[in-house]
Amino acid sequence: MFEKLKGYRVEGNKVYFQYEGENTGKNPCEKNPCEKNPCGKEPCVEVISDSIINVFADYNGLGHRSRAIEWDAQKGNDTSENAKSGKLETVSQDESGVTIKTKKLTAVVGDNFRVDFYDNNGMPLSLAFRGERKERPAISPMMLAFLAKEGHASAGSILGDYPVQEVRALDDADCIYGLGDKTGFLNKRHYMYEMWNTDNPNPQEDNFKALYKSIPFMLVLKEKGAYGIFFDNHSKTYFDMGKEGEEYYVLGAEEGNLDYYFIGGEGLKDVVADYTWLTGRAPMQQLWTLGFHQSRWGYETEEEIRGIAEGMKKHELPCDCIHFDIDYMDSFKVFTWNKETYKDGGKVISDFKDMGIKAVTIIDPGVKVEKDYYVYEEGMENGYFAKTPEGEVYVNEVWPGDAVFPDFGNPKVRTWWGEKQKYLVDLGVAGVWNDMNEPASFRGPLPDDIVFTDEDMAAPHSQMHNIYGHNMAKATYEGWKKLTGKRPFVITRACYGGSQKYTTGWTGDNHSIWAHLRMAIPQLCNMGLSGMSFVGTDVGGFGSDCTPELFARWIQVGCFSPLFRDHAAKGTRMQEPWQFGEEILSISRKYINLRYELLPYIYDLMHECEMSGMPMMRPLVLEYDKDENVKNRNDEFMLGDRILVAPVVEQGAREKLVYLPEGTWYDYWTGEKVEGKSSFIRKAPLDLCPIYVKAGAVIPKYPVRMHVGEDKDDLLILEVYPGEGTYTHYQDNGENFDYHQGGFNTYEIHNHDGQVEVKKQHDGYRDYGKIEVRKSAAFEK
Ligand code: GLC
Repeated sequence: MFEKLKGYRVEGNKVYFQYEGENTGKNPCEKNPCEKNPCGKEPCVEVISDSIINVFADYNGLGHRSRAIEWDAQKGNDTSENAKSGKLETVSQDESGVTIKTKKLTAVVGDNFRVDFYDNNGMPLSLAFRGERKERPAISPMMLAFLAKEGHASAGSILGDYPVQEVRALDDADCIYGLGDKTGFLNKRHYMYEMWNTDNPNPQEDNFKALYKSIPFMLVLKEKGAYGIFFDNHSKTYFDMGKEGEEYYVLGAEEGNLDYYFIGGEGLKDVVADYTWLTGRAPMQQLWTLGFHQSRWGYETEEEIRGIAEGMKKHELPCDCIHFDIDYMDSFKVFTWNKETYKDGGKVISDFKDMGIKAVTIIDPGVKVEKDYYVYEEGMENGYFAKTPEGEVYVNEVWPGDAVFPDFGNPKVRTWWGEKQKYLVDLGVAGVWNDMNEPASFRGPLPDDIVFTDEDMAAPHSQMHNIYGHNMAKATYEGWKKLTGKRPFVITRACYGGSQKYTTGWTGDNHSIWAHLRMAIPQLCNMGLSGMSFVGTDVGGFGSDCTPELFARWIQVGCFSPLFRDHAAKGTRMQEPWQFGEEILSISRKYINLRYELLPYIYDLMHECEMSGMPMMRPLVLEYDKDENVKNRNDEFMLGDRILVAPVVEQGAREKLVYLPEGTWYDYWTGEKVEGKSSFIRKAPLDLCPIYVKAGAVIPKYPVRMHVGEDKDDLLILEVYPGEGTYTHYQDNGENFDYHQGGFNTYEIHNHDGQVEVKKQHDGYRDYGKIEVRKSAAFEK
C-alpha cells in the first residue's frame, strides 16, 4: 500500500509521513468511498503518552472516530485525575527510517509504513513482519461444496488478506492474552478470532471465533518486557494470533481505518494500566452488587419469584439480588409489566426490599411493533429506530415478535432511552440487565447496510454492530445516574473496548457442561485484562441440565468471580442451590457465606480497579509474569494479589494439582505453610475449593450476613497471616458518588507477623463500629 518513504513532517506530538507509490493493495475505500483523504495519504504516528503511541492511516477520511476512547486522546485533553503527560522527545532520520522517541519508547518508521517499536535500551518490543506469509493449499470449489454439505461451513477460510491490515512479528517465547470475551485458553497464541458481536447459543468450544463482546485489545508477554495493541476499529476485525504462520500475527479489517495504539511496558500490569487509562476505568459499583444474585429465565409468575426469595431465607442463603428475566414483561415489551402473571410490580419489589433483596430487570433493545405501545409510538414519531437504505424503519424478530431497533449511536436516542429507565426506577428496580444487544435477531442477522447513526452522521450496520451494546449500556448508565444519583448497576451481554466505564458483563449463554466451567477461568481472566473487570458466568451453566457435582464446583468458582449469579435457561433442570439435595445446599451455603465474609476485600479490589485498572479476578501471569509455570495456567486464578484460588474443574476429581508461584503461602482452610515455586496435590473433597493466602497478608472481612446492609455491629475483621505486609483498606457509603468528592476513608494497615497497626489515612466517612484483628489458622501451626 505505502511504498518508499519520501519524507516526514512534525506537528506537535504527531509525525506525518509521505510515501511514494499509489495504494497498490486492496482499496479499503471501495466499501466506504471518500474524497477527503483517499487511501490514507500521509499516515501518522502520534505520541499519546510516554508509553502509548498511536499509528494511524486515515483510509476513509473521517479521522479518529473512536467509541472506546471518549476523551480526546489526539488533543491530549484528559482532565481525569489519572491524566498523564507524554511528548515526542526527538525525531531523526537515517537509512533505517524515521526514529521517534518518547521518554520510554522508540518507534522507527520505514518504507511501506512499517513501524518497529523498541524500549529505550534498544530492546525490540514489537517489529513489523518482513517475511513471506504462509498460504495454505487451496481447496477446489467442488470440495468446498462437499465440506459445506456435511456442515463444515468454515472450511476454506484460508489466508486472510484484508484491506486494512497490520502484520507483526512474533518471537518464539511470546504469549498472547486479552482479546476480551473469547473461548478457549488463557494464551491466545496459535488461534484465530473475529471481532463481531455474536449470539451463538451452541456449546462454546475453543475453536469458536466470536462471542457476544468485541474488545480488540491484545497483550503480548515477551521473554523480556510486554506490550499491548488496541486495534481501535469497531467494524468487523480479525485477529490471527499466529495460526496462519508461527512467526507473525495479523490484525485485519474490511473497512475503517488503520488505527492502533501501541502500549509498551516492562510487564503486563503496565500494559493493563495504560489500556484502561486510554479507554477509561471501571467506576465502583454499589456494594450490594458484589453479593449473591439468583436468576432464572422462566420464573413465570409473581408467586414463583416470591418463592425464590423465600427459598433463599428458608435455606439460610445470603442473597442480595433476584433477577427478573423477560417473564415479567407484558408480551416481552420493554418498560412494561405483566399485570396478570406478575401482578402489581411495585409490591413484589418493595416486599423484596423489605427482605433485603434487590430486583434487577432485563431490558432488551428490540421494541415490539405494536400500535399504541408507548415506546414504539414515541420512537416512531421521533425517528429513533434504525432504517433500511430506502428509509423504511427496519423490522426483524426478537422475543416480542416483530421488533424495531433503537438507534443508540444517536445521542438523542440515548437520552430518550435513558429517560425510559424512569419506569423501572419508579417501580423500585435496582439495576438493569441489558441482553440481546449484539443486536440478536431471529429472522437472520441484520443486513450490513441497515442505517444507524454514529453520533453526527449516518453509518451502516457493518460499522455500528460492534458498538451497539456499548451505546445501549452508555444510554442506560447515563439515564440511571441522572435519575438516581447512585452508581448505576448495568450488566451487558454485548460490548466493545471501553464499555467498562458504563457496565459490568456476563458471558451470555454458556452450558451446564464441565468444559464451560473450565473455560470460565481463562474467559473471565482475559476479560479482566481487557478492561472488563466486573464480570461473571452463569453459575451452574445456562443451557443444558446441571448436575449436583457440577453445581458444587461452579459455585466455588462463582464465589471468587466479580459477578456471582446463578442463572439458567427456561426448560432446563431447576438450578437454585437447594435443588440438588442437602449436601450441595450446604456446600453452596459455605461458599456464599465465604463470599459475604470477603466482601470488604473484594470491594477494596473494585476500588483498586477504578484507580489503577487492575482487574479483581486475575490470571496468575498478571502477578508473576516472569514465571514460566503460569504463562499457560488455565485452572487457577487470583483474587487480587494475595488470594490464590485453585478450583476443581474436573468431574469426579477429589484432588487438585496445585501450583504456587514464588513466596510463602498458607492454606486457607488448614493454615498449613507451603513454599511457592512448587506443585503438589491437595485433597479436594466436593466441599473443598483449595485456596492459598500469601504470607503477611491482611484480609479484611465482614461477619456473614444475609444481605449487604444487614447490621452486624458494623464490625470489620482483619484476618492476618504470618509474615510482614502492608495493606490499604478502603471504605465508603457503597452507594453513590460521594467518594469522588472525598467521602471515603482509607486505612493503612501494617502486619508485623500478627502484630497489627491500623492508621487512618484519609478521613472522609464515618468510622467502623469496631475493627477486630483475628489471627488466621496459620498462626496455630
Ligand atoms: C438470552 C440471555 C439469557 C436470558 C434469555 C431470556 O438467551 O442470554 O440470559 O435468560 O435470553 O431472556
